[in-house]
Amino acid sequence: HTRKRNVKRLLDERLSKQEVALLRKIGAAGDKLGINLFVVGGFVRDLLLYRKVDDMDIVVEGDGISFAKSFALMCKGRCNSHKKFGTAVVVLPDGFKVDVASARREYYKFPAALPTVEMSSIKLDMFRRDFTINTMAIQLNQEKFGTLIDFFGAQRDLKDKTIRTIHNLSFVEDPTRVFRAIKFANRFDFTIGKLTSNLIQNAVRVDFFKNLSGLRVFSELRQILEEDDPIPAIKTLETYGLERVIHPYLAFDNQTVVLLEEVKKALAWHDLLFLDTPYLRWSIYFMVMIRLCSPKIVQEIADRLKFSPTHQRIILNDRIKAEQRLEILEANPPKSNSRLHSILKTFRTELILYMMACAKKDETRKALSLFYTKLRDIKVLIRGEHLITLGVRPGPEFKRIMSSVLKARLDHQVATLENEIDFAKGYIRQNKIVD
Ligand code: CTP
Repeated sequence: HTRKRNVKRLLDERLSKQEVALLRKIGAAGDKLGINLFVVGGFVRDLLLYRKVDDMDIVVEGDGISFAKSFALMCKGRCNSHKKFGTAVVVLPDGFKVDVASARREYYKFPAALPTVEMSSIKLDMFRRDFTINTMAIQLNQEKFGTLIDFFGAQRDLKDKTIRTIHNLSFVEDPTRVFRAIKFANRFDFTIGKLTSNLIQNAVRVDFFKNLSGLRVFSELRQILEEDDPIPAIKTLETYGLERVIHPYLAFDNQTVVLLEEVKKALAWHDLLFLDTPYLRWSIYFMVMIRLCSPKIVQEIADRLKFSPTHQRIILNDRIKAEQRLEILEANPPKSNSRLHSILKTFRTELILYMMACAKKDETRKALSLFYTKLRDIKVLIRGEHLITLGVRPGPEFKRIMSSVLKARLDHQVATLENEIDFAKGYIRQNKIVD
C-alpha cells in the first residue's frame, strides 16, 4: 500500500535554503513542461535517516533528457545527456550536479517471471530498484511539493532498521546487489531481513556470480572497503561465503580480523594528522584480506578484478617488498634516521600504513610513524648550481653527492645551506670527485 505524507518541513529543516530553492525550481520547471518529477533514492533515504545528503537524483515521468536540457537553459547550467539510457546530468553554474533520469528507462531487463501489473512509471522505476529503503520518492511539482511517496514500505523498514529486497528475483536481476545489501547494512547498522538473507544464501549456493564481471565485483567490494568502518561488512561477507566470489581460494584466519582492526587504527592515525591527503583506503584492507594467498592466486585475483597497473603494483609487488622490509625493520631496528629513510623511502602511503598494521612491535610502529611524519619530506637545500661552483660536472656524481648530503641532513649533521656546502666539499675531496 502506497503511503504518502508531506515532508516539506523536513526538507526545510534538513537542507540549506539554496537546496530547497533548487528543488522548488526543478518542480516549477516540471510544471512548465507538464510533467511529474521526483527526487528519489539515496537522497530521500538519507534525508529520512538524518544523514548527510549528497547527490540529487531526479526521476521524470516523461522525457528526462528534454527536461534536463530546458532546466539547464533556465539556470544557465550545462547539460550532458546519455541518450541510450535516457539520463542526463545538469551541472549548475556553481558546479552542483543534478542527475536526471526518465522513469521509463530500461535500466535492467525486467524479470520475465514477475507478474505484469499496472503501475505508474515512477512506481515501476522504484520497483526495479534494489532495496525498499531506496525506493522512496518526493514529488517536486509545485502543487504537490514535498509529498513523500513510499510504495513498498520503506519507512517501516527504516524504522525496523532492515534491508529488504522488493521482490524475490532482485538478486537474479542483479547479483551485485548482494554486496550492496551488506554495504548498506553495515553503513546504517541495519540488519538484513530474514527472507533477503535467505535469498543471499541461495545466490551463493546457486552461484549467481559466475557470470558477473570481475570489474563489477571489484567496484562493489571497493565501495564496501571505502566505508568508514568496513570490518563488520567484511565479516558478513565471510559469513555468507562471499569472499569465495572474489576467488575460490580466498580465505581468512583468526589473525585476519585482528589485522583488519590494526588497519583501522593506522588509517585513523593517518587521517587525524593528514586530513585531506587522498590515498587508496580500500587497498590496505584488501592487502590484509589476501595476505594468505600465494602470489599466483593474488595474480589471478588481480586479473579477475581487472586491477589497473597501479593497483597491481601496490597489491602484488610493493606489498611483498613491504612485508620483507617490515621483517628487516623488526629484526634489525635501524639505528639512524638515514638508515630508516633508506629502508622506507620508496613506499607510498598505502604500504607504510599496511606495514604499520602488520608490525608486531611498538618500536617498529614508532619508526614507521617517524619516517612518515618527519623524515619523508625532508629535502636538501643545496642545488646543482652550488655543486657546479664547487667544480663538479653535471652527471651521476650529482646524485651521489646529493644523497650523501640528504643522509647528513637526516642524521642532523648539517643544519644550514652553508653546512651542506661544507659537507659536500668534504665529500668531494674524500671521494676525489674533482681533480
Ligand atoms: N540501484 C539498484 N541496483 C544496483 C545499483 C543501484 O537498484 N545494483 C539503484 C538503487 O536503488 C539506488 C540507485 O540505483 O538508490 C542509485 O544507485 P547508487 O548511486 O549506487 O546508490 P545510492 O543509494 O545513492 O548509494 P550511495 O549512498 O552509496 O551513493
